[in-house]
Order: sequence, then structure tokens, then C-alpha cells
Amino acid sequence: MDRVTRFSISIEADLLRRFLQVAHKAGWKNRSEAVRNLIRDFLVREEWRGNDEIVGTICIVYDHHQRELTDRLTRLQHHEHDSVLATTHIHLDHDNCLEMIAVRGRATRVQKIADRLVGLRGVKHGRLIATTTGRKLR
Ligand code: NI
Repeated sequence: MDRVTRFSISIEADLLRRFLQVAHKAGWKNRSEAVRNLIRDFLVREEWRGNDEIVGTICIVYDHHQRELTDRLTRLQHHEHDSVLATTHIHLDHDNCLEMIAVRGRATRVQKIADRLVGLRGVKHGRLIATTTGRKLR
């Protein structure tokens, strides 16, 4: 087993309280396990940078009444047709839409597409959920 080391951190009490509540719901048993999980997630995400191929879904929630937003979303996905595999659109309620965009490609490229989609005016929230295929692209 790897040698275990201890370290202490400074954090606002309220931030820690909120974090521990969510970590507890996620089934993380204690602070150490929670922080270890975060660090592992972060390292996996960082490893994607570069030429790794990733596959995943970009999930966005938006108000379809926002002017020109649906056109922009369509245009961007057509422009990135090499990376965009499929899109599922769900009408959540009278105003809100959920779009799940399946993507595959170079990690840096896919992340950039996700950032652009999430950054469009009118997109309320969005996120790239991805994993790696383990393949390196040239
Ligand atoms: Ni809709």
C-alpha cells in the first residue's frame, strides 16, 4: 500500500458544511474519503487534456424563448458535426428544454465545444459528462 500522508487545509466553515452535506448524500463516508474522491476526479479530468479521445454527453438546460438561441445551438452543432454524434431534445416544461448532445473526439476539442454551448446567452446550466476510450489521437 502507498504511504499515506496527512495535510491540513483552510476553508470557510460554511463552504465545508455545504460540501460535507452533499458528500454525505453521495455516500462518501468521511472528509478524507471525500477529498480523495475529489482529487481523483480532478486528476482524471486533467489527464484528458491533450490528444486523448473522449466520449460523453453535453447536457444543457435553456429557455427556448431566448431569441436566436435555438438557431445558434443548431448552427454550432452542424459546424462541429465531426464531434457531435446525436442530440436528444426534451421539452421539460412550457419554457425549458433539456438537450443531451452525445459527443466523441479529442478531449480539448470536445471540451471547447461544451464551453461554447454552455456559454451561449440563455443557457441556464450545462455540463460535459465524459469518459475516455483510452485511445490516443494523433
Ligand atoms: Ni424544447
